[in-house]
Amino acid sequence: MRTNIVAGNWKMNLNFEEADDLINNIVEFIEEESLENIGVIVCPPAVYLELATDHAQDNDLYVGAQNLSNHESGAYTGEISARMLSSMAVSYCIIGHSERRKYFNEDHAMLAEKVNRALHYDIVPIFCCGELLPEREAGTHFEVVKKQLEESLFHLQVGDFANVVIAYEPVWAIGTGVNATPDQAQEMHAFIRNLVADKYGAEPAENTSILYGGSCNAKNAKELFANPDVDGGLIGGASLKSDDFIKIIQSF
Ligand code: 13P
Repeated sequence: MRTNIVAGNWKMNLNFEEADDLINNIVEFIEEESLENIGVIVCPPAVYLELATDHAQDNDLYVGAQNLSNHESGAYTGEISARMLSSMAVSYCIIGHSERRKYFNEDHAMLAEKVNRALHYDIVPIFCCGELLPEREAGTHFEVVKKQLEESLFHLQVGDFANVVIAYEPVWAIGTGVNATPDQAQEMHAFIRNLVADKYGAEPAENTSILYGGSCNAKNAKELFANPDVDGGLIGGASLKSDDFIKIIQSF
């Protein structure tokens, strides 16, 4: 059975004190509730990863990074390797986010390398895919997402693929306040699950968690998560306020 997941992508936000407060509030909630089959992940900026992993000991909170290098190690000033993350109890990493594709020119081949690095160190990639607004308007959104998965994920053997989480994040919905409708999300998530089934078989497809991201918030999460192929969310803005993030977790 696949796991429902709510992951917070803090992006480049919060100072140390704010990050500490946020994580404390989330931990308090997690320790009070017994969450059944829901994984809660926080993905803070890299400088706060140790703060997060310290708080995530002895409870059901998981920590993810927002990025890792496609290189193993060496003279890459400013970069962070999968080996470093894994040695700090970081268990997830966002890979393929549209902001990294756009601002840092991360292409399909580089993302495939990042996925490989992560898996080699037992870090679960949260692999993001999703189309731009003109692509949706042109009706090419299924093709675009298919190519993103084929080029950066589908080289994996089935055993490795079992350790991947997919996040569908239509770029036009990210930070815009315009979320995909529940029907649009379900349609794409079912399409993605079918692609996985064609490539790896019915069981791996059934077991893959597919998250929705893009203006998902405390108000619309319930309706989005109610769809059979939407297994949770990758949350940006609404993950920065503990009340909102907790309401999203409670939307299952
Ligand atoms: P928003 O929730 O702010 O739209 O961001 C979504 C996102 O990019 C998560 O990775």
